[in-house]
Amino acid sequence: MTATLPPRGAERGPRRWPLLGNLPAFARDPLAFFESLRDEYGDWVPWALGPKRNVLVSRPEHAAELLGAVETTFAPQELGWAFRQLLGNGVVVATGEDWRRKRALVQPAVRPRQVRSYAATMVECADALAGAWAEGARIEVHREMAGLTQRIAVRTLFGGDAAGREAPISAAMAAAQRELGAEFRGLTLFLPAWVQTPGRRRMRAAVAVLDREIEHVIREHEEASAGGAGRDDLLGRLLAARDEHGGPLSRTELRDESITLYIGGHETTSTTLTWAWQLLSGAPGARARLDEELERVLGGRLPTYDDHARLTWTRQVVKESLRLYPPVWLISAVAGEGAVIGGRPVPPGTGVWTSPWSVHRDARWFPDPEAFRPERWDADAPHPVPEHAWFPFGGGPRACLGARFALVEAVLVLAVLAQRFHLDTGPAPVPVFPGLTLQPTCPVPATLRRAGP
Ligand code: HEM
Repeated sequence: MTATLPPRGAERGPRRWPLLGNLPAFARDPLAFFESLRDEYGDWVPWALGPKRNVLVSRPEHAAELLGAVETTFAPQELGWAFRQLLGNGVVVATGEDWRRKRALVQPAVRPRQVRSYAATMVECADALAGAWAEGARIEVHREMAGLTQRIAVRTLFGGDAAGREAPISAAMAAAQRELGAEFRGLTLFLPAWVQTPGRRRMRAAVAVLDREIEHVIREHEEASAGGAGRDDLLGRLLAARDEHGGPLSRTELRDESITLYIGGHETTSTTLTWAWQLLSGAPGARARLDEELERVLGGRLPTYDDHARLTWTRQVVKESLRLYPPVWLISAVAGEGAVIGGRPVPPGTGVWTSPWSVHRDARWFPDPEAFRPERWDADAPHPVPEHAWFPFGGGPRACLGARFALVEAVLVLAVLAQRFHLDTGPAPVPVFPGLTLQPTCPVPATLRRAGP
């Protein structure tokens, strides 16, 4: 493995096809492609996606420098038609001043104090799921986790006003998310907006349902707030938010941010949980330490928000799962004037890419990188994790707004379910599919076994 940057002008990269650049290798298996670039050419690798010139950076400090410069010398990548259709101009899509204003308006709704108020819903939903499970039953882990995080997302976002609307909202969100994933990995990403495809028609249909349902929920929230009974959920907080000039989010902006928080938060957390169960099933030692902690801290009761800080091993399991399977496996931005990484100027227009997947699986920062070892996160671990080497939530000014929400949710859900059940997924490794998030390629069946005394 090449450990340092090559001298300027001597950077080497893979051979490129005319017109396509390295698109074929990237499209075939992007995870393997990025790892091979790192291993064969080093920490700064020029490559091309069609006509677009790119660089892959693989050192944690370079990834941090890139993320820190987004919205100053780097601009976020253009997102495709499907993103704009679904997320409108929400905080994930917006740039510049518009993004700054929206981020400032959305952030207070996901502060730790607010996440505390969503914890009870997370625990309630997980407890209901455990209540529906039975000893010896076969489940499909990814489907169960997706259903659970979907319920949590709808209820924390819309509270009681979503009652009766949960099914159509969840179905439309799931359909839209499928199309988003298909576009993200497919050639339609490069098609102009006017081209119609069956996938784009499905996306429009899903968005029409979402617009209708969310419009109702927003109206109910507005009426409640006008009657002096503002809602204590995410949408209620977005409705009450005011910018520096005292202006609220418009109806359209409320719709965009509601969908953004749902899409940003649900699939990322459900895949994290799915991988955590799969990894725990193959690691009896880690699972035994989990059982011991749950018994010691909770003693059979349901967890609360405050337990999240006490469940240190449970949190380490989540962090290690996010290391091996970072749901957002790819982050990139486009260089503008004055862009520099590692002291090296980057020509304007160059796409600079980094991959949490390949940095998290680099033996220089994580010894025995393929192994699931939550103990790496012990306070007295012999090889402390280097700064910036773990970045599943991105970093810099556009870092994930929901990181606290997601970590609390994953810890509480694991704690509730693991107190009651073991999920035996069997020894076979589950292949990974790098779609919009890092998902299992196939169903993940598991047999439920009762846990605890
Ligand atoms: C394990 C779960 C999650 C992971 C791994 C994750 C990861 C990320 C990453 C890597 C980014 C930055 C992307 C980039 O720089 O291109 C991001 C942005 C974002 N995330 Fe998350 N996320 C998770 C959960 C959540 C949740 C639960 C929410 C909402 C409640 C959320 C809302 C957002 C938003 C709004 C942004 C855009 C921030 C901005 O552009 O200013 N995420 N997320």
